[in-house]
Amino acid sequence: MSQENMPPNEETSEKQREDESSGSMNDEMLIETEVDSEGARRADTPAIIESKDIEVWYGDDQALRGIDIEIPENRVTAMIGPSGCGKSTFLRCINRMNDLIDAAHVEGELTLRGKNVYDGDVDPVALRRRVGMVFQKPNPFPKSIYDNVAYGLNIQNKDGDYDEIVEQSLKRAALWDEVKDRLDESGLELSGGQQQRLCIARAIAPDPEVLLMDEPASALDPVATSQIEDLIAELAEDYTVVIVTHNMQQAARISDKTAVFLTGGELVEFDDTQKIFENPEHERVEDYITGKFG
Ligand SMILES: Nc1ncnc2c1ncn2[C@@H]1O[C@H](COP(=O)(O)OP(=O)(O)OP(=O)(O)O)[C@@H](O)[C@H]1O
Ligand SMILES: [Mg+2]
Repeated sequence: MSQENMPPNEETSEKQREDESSGSMNDEMLIETEVDSEGARRADTPAIIESKDIEVWYGDDQALRGIDIEIPENRVTAMIGPSGCGKSTFLRCINRMNDLIDAAHVEGELTLRGKNVYDGDVDPVALRRRVGMVFQKPNPFPKSIYDNVAYGLNIQNKDGDYDEIVEQSLKRAALWDEVKDRLDESGLELSGGQQQRLCIARAIAPDPEVLLMDEPASALDPVATSQIEDLIAELAEDYTVVIVTHNMQQAARISDKTAVFLTGGELVEFDDTQKIFENPEHERVEDYITGKFG
């Protein structure tokens, strides 16, 4: 994976996080939130990803503690929790992006369809084709719209004919109609919301099994956010989506399962989204969801 595909730097995301959480933490918050979108509240499927006692350190600082979770296939799983509790770190465990951070050290087992992705015979680059990722800040490459989508395909097969896959990926990312007459223009000329859909098209072009999304809509306006949410609901028909969000209503609207991480890098509760938002087991979770802290 290239440098350009790396997560945005911490300073940028800190600012955007503050902007967003001040907007989302209003006093009509949650617990009462209905989980009523069509995508949510679906019955569990067998797990595609299982983490067993995952622990992560950055140098001597432990960021995640004993994370056990089973993520169902073709469902949307949301990860919520206060800043610094390890949500992004956990996402990066799934596609071994933490390998790219020198100080990071991962222990435990994380399986994708029963195979531990940390086994010595797993190629992280091949793994990342099966587990695509979309970041908070849209990060198209300074290439044409077409080449952005074809990027992951180029790596696999330099001489392929990608027109059909590029078109299908842009259609699935709900961007085709807006860009079909300008595929040769730079991806950087698109609006922020279009750029993020372009990044989603790029992530799904190699036909991954899992799509990781780290606050994919937090830099976008409400219209673009709503487009991304609709898109996630559609993608979850065919993909397993794991999404980090600071926006509680968004988690309640779009996810089937919700994992709540709290400060110290613990996974405190993981359950059906409706249960988490209406009747969580843990008082700390209820306090977080109702905005008493975080
Ligand atoms: N590259 C890194 N090097 C050192 N420490 C890191 C690095 N990335 C994250 N950490 C630390 O690990 C902990 C978890 O960070 P992480 O980014 O996973 O949290 P997060 O839940 O995604 O937070 P946010 O909601 O602010 O994005 C924090 O204490 C953070 O400072
Ligand atoms: Mg994060």
